[in-house]
Amino acid sequence: MNSLDQFAQAKLDDLERRNLRRALAETDREDGIWIERDGRRLLSFSCNDYLNLTQHPAVKQAASAALERYGAGSGASRLITGNHPLYAKLEARLARIKRTEAAVVFGSGYLANSGIIPVLIGRDGLVLLDQLSHACIYAGAQLSRGRVLTFRHNDVAHARELLAAHRAEHDRALIVTDGVFSMDGDLAPLADLLALANEHDAWLMSDDAHGLGVVGGGRGSSFVGNAHIPVPLQMGTLSKAVGAYGGYLCASAPVIELMRNRARTLIYSTGLPPAIVAAAIAALDVIEREPGYAALPVQKAKAFTQTMGLPTAQSPIVPVIVGSEDKALAASRLLADEGFLVAAIRPPTVPAGTARLRLTFTAQHPDDEIARLAHVVRERVLAA
Ligand SMILES: Cc1ncc(COP(=O)(O)O)c(C=O)c1O
Repeated sequence: MNSLDQFAQAKLDDLERRNLRRALAETDREDGIWIERDGRRLLSFSCNDYLNLTQHPAVKQAASAALERYGAGSGASRLITGNHPLYAKLEARLARIKRTEAAVVFGSGYLANSGIIPVLIGRDGLVLLDQLSHACIYAGAQLSRGRVLTFRHNDVAHARELLAAHRAEHDRALIVTDGVFSMDGDLAPLADLLALANEHDAWLMSDDAHGLGVVGGGRGSSFVGNAHIPVPLQMGTLSKAVGAYGGYLCASAPVIELMRNRARTLIYSTGLPPAIVAAAIAALDVIEREPGYAALPVQKAKAFTQTMGLPTAQSPIVPVIVGSEDKALAASRLLADEGFLVAAIRPPTVPAGTARLRLTFTAQHPDDEIARLAHVVRERVLAA
């Protein structure tokens, strides 16, 4: 074996030994909730398609009309010729929903976070992250080459201590947090973080990947409980409740204009396919038109946590922490035997010792199946 393959094989063997090796499983999504895998039909509690809009007839229709009109790909980066007419419509819509002056759409949420943070923070800057922030927030922070510090999860007092100790050593400071935490489903204390940021001349950025469409009347995590917390940098993705693909930033007009000029992941990456942008616009139409429908995933998650005696769900994401990697994998296999797809989430996606089942509830999950799932998790996974 040559040294490259030897290196790869040794790494794989190590992952295997630690129960951390992953595999791509071919998954045929039949509709918003049912999938077929390894010849089995399973009810999925692992898709982020919270409103099942990937399969909505109006969304598919909009995508197919755009495919016919504009073709399959966008042909170039947005700053060259890839900025097809649907982008302006999508960006205006996002800015309206988030109540900001402007918005810019990136190729994905990962690309958005990797591009935005380095535009705002350089070598002399400080990035303060909630420790449970998504991997692509860490990636963006590292790419900025600034100093990266983490505060304990949702611990505003700890963030305050770090800013008090270090803010003065840096030219600019940015606080970044998930709005809805992707693996835990809880909400960030955005109002308190914004007040803290303002006290220390720092800027606050929220990642609303799991908030848009499903919390705050569909507007996301800065709008929960009829609030409007004016977070100046509201990032998110179009790939979860919106059911399409792409990332975005909603912010003031000058900030968005700066992103268009400086964000490397926007400038040096091809524009999104027109069909995807059209799908996102049609999905946002549904979200704005049907707030009752948008509320369903959280209602279903709450029904599950109530039956289980778990803390009340704040979002469609409910973690059931089992601890070790092998326990999480065994629980996932057991649930598959009962007809449910629930992925085991292991380190490094979550901290060591907190391997879990991550359940995601969607608008169309039948209530009786949720009750059956709760029964199996309680009696066969947690009691085992
Ligand atoms: C909190 C969070 N931010 C960003 C992303 C990345 O978004 P995308 O899938 O659009 O790249 C994800 C999910 O993948 C996420 O959970």
